[in-house]
Amino acid sequence: MKPGEVHLAFGSPEAILARCLDRASALVTAEERARHDRFFFEPDRLQYAATRSLARVMLSRYAPVAPRDWVFREGPHGKPAIAGPEGAPALRFNLSNTRSLVACAVTLDHEIGVDVEEIDRPGETVTIAERFFSPSEVAALRALPAGEQRERFFEYWTLKEAYIKALGARSRGAAPRVLARARAVRRRRARRGSDRLLVRPPR
Ligand SMILES: CC(C)(COP(=O)(O)OP(=O)(O)OC[C@H]1O[C@@H](n2cnc3c(N)ncnc32)[C@H](O)[C@@H]1OP(=O)(O)O)[C@@H](O)C(=O)NCCC(=O)NCCS
Repeated sequence: MKPGEVHLAFGSPEAILARCLDRASALVTAEERARHDRFFFEPDRLQYAATRSLARVMLSRYAPVAPRDWVFREGPHGKPAIAGPEGAPALRFNLSNTRSLVACAVTLDHEIGVDVEEIDRPGETVTIAERFFSPSEVAALRALPAGEQRERFFEYWTLKEAYIKALGARSRGAAPRVLARARAVRRRRARRGSDRLLVRPPR
């Protein structure tokens, strides 16, 4: 991986556990196993194990560390980061999950956030946008034909969530400011020609 690149891997929880580490191997610490067991619903346990499996295997592609040897710690708002083993490179990563898709993004040198959402889930989009998006975004959403609003809504939503996650934050009020900053960064990076994204599903 080169500086400035983002590597992204994703798949269904079942596929990840079949192709990376299985559930027993993915849950390394007593804390991870306890957290897994506390989920009431099996699909939630599956997602939790799958994100650990994907993160461990993916990080090991970039460092001479066995998947089970990575040690994670959580930041003040819950963002996981690498805490060991000693001497491990300071790779940055972030995870997101739904019942049908889990994703892990890794970088060498930048904080990173990733978000996946079920776009077919029932529910209003414009009403939610009025609460969380800036007036210009709501206007842009309303200007679209009804059939295109849902997809655009989720584009904005996942961009904001991913940016909030890159910051390791958890602030609802930050969302409109966050999108404006994300756009400015994207424009700057596009001007420099460094806006590279590599999408690599796990082998
Ligand atoms: C923290 C937050 C970003 C998590 O997002 P989510 O969609 O609920 O869940 P995801 O599946 O995308 O991500 C969960 C994973 O992200 C990681 N994570 C947890 N807290 C995090 C944080 N503060 N920052 C970055 N990553 C975080 C963890 O790996 C977590 O998985 P785990 O609990 O199994 O360890 C979300 O709860 C939040 O507070 N969002 C801000 C709300 C908001 O303003 N939304 C409006 C956007 S327009």
